[in-house]
This record gives sequence, C-alpha cells and structure tokens, in this order.
Amino acid sequence: MLTADTRYQVRVGRAGDADHLADLQATTQLQPAAGGEPHAGIAAWVHDLMDGHPSAGPADFLVAEDVATGRPAASLVGLRQDWFLGGVRLPVGQVELVATAPEHRGNRLTEILFAALHERFRADGVTLQMIEGIPYFYRRLGYDYALADDGAPSVPAASLPAVSSGAGLTVRPATVADADALAAIDLRLTVEPVLSCPRDRGAWRYEISGRRHDDISRYEVAVLADGPDVRGYLVHSVQLYGAGELVLFAAACDRPEDWARAVPVMLAYLGVVGSRFAAASGEPFTLVRQRLSPAHPLVRMGPPGVAKRARGWFMRVGDPVDLLSRLRPVLHDRWHAAGLRWPTDSLTINTYGHAARLEFTDGELTGVVRGHPSISPATDPDTHAAVPPAALLQLALGYRTLPDVLNSWPDCVPRDHLTEHFLTVAFPLVEARLWPRV
Ligand SMILES: CC(C)(COP(=O)(O)OP(=O)(O)OC[C@H]1O[C@@H](n2cnc3c(N)ncnc32)[C@H](O)[C@@H]1OP(=O)(O)O)[C@@H](O)C(=O)NCCC(=O)NCCS
Repeated sequence: MLTADTRYQVRVGRAGDADHLADLQATTQLQPAAGGEPHAGIAAWVHDLMDGHPSAGPADFLVAEDVATGRPAASLVGLRQDWFLGGVRLPVGQVELVATAPEHRGNRLTEILFAALHERFRADGVTLQMIEGIPYFYRRLGYDYALADDGAPSVPAASLPAVSSGAGLTVRPATVADADALAAIDLRLTVEPVLSCPRDRGAWRYEISGRRHDDISRYEVAVLADGPDVRGYLVHSVQLYGAGELVLFAAACDRPEDWARAVPVMLAYLGVVGSRFAAASGEPFTLVRQRLSPAHPLVRMGPPGVAKRARGWFMRVGDPVDLLSRLRPVLHDRWHAAGLRWPTDSLTINTYGHAARLEFTDGELTGVVRGHPSISPATDPDTHAAVPPAALLQLALGYRTLPDVLNSWPDCVPRDHLTEHFLTVAFPLVEARLWPRV
C-alpha cells in the first residue's frame, strides 16, 4: 500500500494479526495503570475489535510491518461510525490504539500510518476524524480541538438522592431483550439538535453481553423502566476508578418530559451501583464522574456538584466542503427558523484551500457546491467569509460560536456585518450527547 522506507511496509490488518497486535498494544498503552505489565483490558479490546465487534474488524487496523521480521512495528485502528445532528448523518472515523513498539520509535511511523488512514477515509467519504490522546501531539497530524462531550460537574456520592423509584419509574440492569427499545431511543435522538452517536439493535446487544469480560471498553447498561416499557438508559463503568469514582458515559430519556422524574431515580441507581462496587473492592465510593456535557438534561436537573474542566477531542475534517454540504438541511432550517433570507444567489465560504459556494433560491439555502479557491480569501471580493478549517470545525460541531471564533482567530474574516450575522445564526452551540462506538 505505502512504503515507509525499505524497512517498513504499511498494510491493512488481518485476522492473523490479532495476537501480535494485542501484544503490541497491551505492552505500550496505559503502562502506568498496568504497573508496567501488559494491560489485560487493552489486549481484550484488541481481540474484540478483531473478532465479533458489530462495526469493526481486522481491516479497520493499519499496520506498519517490519519487513525483516514480518512483525507489526506500529499500528492503529480507525473505528467507523455515524454521528447525527438534526437528522443529518456525519460519517466519523475515531482513531484509537495508536502505538509504536519501543524499538521502532524514531521512524515517524504514526505520521506514516495517519497519512494512509486519512487517504482511506477520504476515498470512503468518512468526513470527520476524531481522536482523544496525547495533548498537542495530534495537532502535528492535522487535528485540532473542536469538540467536548464532557465538562459536567462530578456529583459527590453524599449528594446522590436515596429514592429508588419516582412516579412509577425504576432503573434496572439491561438485558439483550431491551436492545430493540434502546435502539429506538437512539434513533429518535438522531433528529434532535444535539450531536449523537446512535446504536442499532446489534450494537446494543453487543454492549450488553457481547464483549470479552476484560475489554477496557466494556460498560454496564441499565434501563429506565416504566413497568414493562423501556423509557431511557444509563451507561456506566464496571468498576470504580481513581479515588473511588464511578464513571457515567451516557444517559438518555425517550421523552424529554420524563427527565424531571427520571433524574432522581437515575442518580439513586448510580449511588447503589457505586456502593456495590465499593463493597466488592474495599475502596470507598466518592463520586460520580459524569462524562456528559454541562448542557445534558441529567446534569442541568441534577445537584450542582464539583466543577470539572472539559477535556476536548481532537477533530479533523478532510474536506470542509463536504462537511458543509452534509449540514445543508440543518443550516437551511436554522436560517429559516430565524426568518433570515440571504439577499443574493450565493454565499462563498473559503477555508484557505477549499471554497464552498452556498446557493440560495428566494433567500433560502438550496445547495452547497465546490467553489473556486482563491489565493487570498481574506481580501478576495468574491469570498464572503474566510474561515480556517479548524475554526470551521469548531463552528460546524457547535463547539464555539462565531463571536468566540472571531475573538481567537484573527484569520477568520467575514466580509461584512450581514455575513457575520448569517454565520452567527448558522452555527449555534450544540450539545455533544455522544457515547462513541469503540
Ligand atoms: C506516541 C507514539 C505512538 C509515537 O511513536 P512514533 O510515531 O513512532 O513517533 P516517533 O518516535 O517517530 O516520534 C515522532 C515525533 O513525535 C514525538 N513524540 C513521540 N512520542 C511522543 C509523545 N508521547 N508525546 C509527544 N510527542 C511525542 C517525537 O518526539 C518526534 O518528534 P520530532 O519530530 O520533533 O522529533 C509512541 O511513542 C507510543 O507508542 N507511545 C505509547 C503509546 C501511546 O501513548 N499512544 C498514543 C495514545 S493517544
């Protein structure tokens, strides 16, 4: 596929790589947590991704093979998933398990693997890439912070309510029989004005009972029930972490009006789970770490808690025009709802390399096509707004508003006040209600 130099060959993963990649990843990832030993949770995750995972397989791995030995010297995996915003599908590739064996470091193998991965995603129309990980490092590979799905305050165990049921609602561990109902809840969330990552029936079954026991990405799912009906769910860690922290990864209610009575029941359930884990481990249960946005209904209606800084995800957009084109219905609806009509037949956004021409009919957005790139978009009379790609990502994903971006990006240049107003309305803050598929 691509040759690093004569020493390495980059190729797609194969089922026969499972043991080697599990070994490479387990001996390089999270070594402090594993006390320098191979990390069993990482090894099990690699095996799960290689075998039986509903949306990943060996071919999602890229391997830099040492030609002399035939052994993997470095690898990563690109996990494909669909996110949704207001009914619009956004193909995303989440990059995980990036590692180079110590004896092969110094050869820029990550850079070479990412180049191959980006080319695959480009060819397959996977518009967005995301990765958590080493601060700053991934900026060097074209990523920038443009999303946060956390930042909610942590709830001390002592602040959790004691009620175990509220107005008929209860919470209980999920079973595979709940998978259809859970998928239906996710499906409904896809049309909401939040960023979501839905699971279908097969994916829910997998989360509930499909993963290897040690898989570091295995979580417990609980359902919010009203008698026999499933009305929502919680996803939390299978043990306490750090100083006795239970981690909450996702919470959903099928009907927004249920949140007020669901919140105390959900929090009380987490209290019971935390105490159970504490009793089993002999560690104290101190708090619930909510990996949720501060805008999440459970957070807004829950106790104030202890402030927590958002971590931020690295994001990358390969083709900004494709991203804007996908978002066309959302942009249309936002301008329509605000009663805004663009006065001419087009609005050109240039991302210093790509140009998107937004087309209007009777003031309403009807299309997004590729425009002519300009060498100097900030001064080009045919460009309405010059927006650096990372700033566009922040706007498009609802991570920052245009006023925020204008304050911190001098090279983000709307041509006039009308353009500025349109782009401000086009890109409001969006709650990331994501539990990515890994
Ligand atoms: C991070 C890692 C994959 C990089 O390996 P690599 O691609 O072979 O990188 P190289 O050794 O060729 O170094 C390339 C550059 O990245 C820098 N770099 C390497 N590891 C780094 C780290 N952990 N943090 C910051 N910079 C790092 C190097 O200093 C070098 O910089 P230079 O260009 O200025 O000389 C490797 O160190 C590793 O496997 N670490 C343990 C697992 C891990 O942390 N994975 C990432 C999880 S998000």
